[in-house]
Amino acid sequence: MEIKKAVIPVAGLGTRFLPATKSMPKEMLPIIDKPVIHHVVEEAIESGIDDIIFITGRSKRSIEDYFDDAPELEMHLKEKNKDNLLKIVQDISSMVDIHYIRQKEPRGLGDAILTAEKHINDEPFAVLLGDDIIVNKTPCTKQLINNFKKYGRSTIAVEEVPMEKTGSYGIIQGKPMDESLYLLEDIVEKPEPENAPSNIGAIGRYVFTPEILDCIKKTTTGIGGEIQLTDGIRLLKEEQQIYAYKFTGERYDTGDKVEYVKAIIDFALANEDMKGQIKDHLKGFCI
Ligand code: G1P
Repeated sequence: MEIKKAVIPVAGLGTRFLPATKSMPKEMLPIIDKPVIHHVVEEAIESGIDDIIFITGRSKRSIEDYFDDAPELEMHLKEKNKDNLLKIVQDISSMVDIHYIRQKEPRGLGDAILTAEKHINDEPFAVLLGDDIIVNKTPCTKQLINNFKKYGRSTIAVEEVPMEKTGSYGIIQGKPMDESLYLLEDIVEKPEPENAPSNIGAIGRYVFTPEILDCIKKTTTGIGGEIQLTDGIRLLKEEQQIYAYKFTGERYDTGDKVEYVKAIIDFALANEDMKGQIKDHLKGFCI
């Protein structure tokens, strides 16, 4: 079965970027001129997704506005003959079908995904978390979809993380199948390094069979008092095989300030119009 739907939860508060995120969603922080969430939506589209369900919360209205038509702005750009900008602005609102579901209270990632249940309609679906930008010719979600097509099983993207950071990730225990694939044996949400089954972490891209939803429903409140997706995955693996896939690509966790700055520098260096001046500027810092 084709994977055409993606759930993108964007209800988190973004406290790491306060005060900027006091009045703007963290997903709207720009990487130069394109918000983080735009990159995530592009990844979904380039992976074959044509129906996106955003799980939003309070103060996320600007995400809806961003992907909507902007008649006054379009009129203004038309009058000023700024055709390039006009096209960029119009393209954003016609990218893909987007639906918005509001999560009333931030009760955890598992709960956020459950709110999309009616829309998912018993089909396999992708989940993309709104913080990560992953750069690669074959998008990370597409890599997961390819694995799903091969085995018909839920597949989660993983990478090796520094041992001292296991407390920020769902950490897996897996049986290696080949150099990039593990059969999932266990997954633990945010273990301290001494309790972590490995240093291989789930990074915010998933493809699920629809049975994940019933499994999330069966979970009880997990770590941090939240309904955790990881606990749902744990239950699912009792019923079905699940794969963990070591994706190819460069990941930027833009919810982290250092990674956010790195993303901006790398995108600037990849931009023909900017790279010369940015390189000159950076030379001044070489020790
Ligand atoms: C969530 C998941 C975690 C995963 C992480 C990836 O945590 O609960 O399992 O490893 O995303 O970014 P969060 O970062 O939302 O706290």
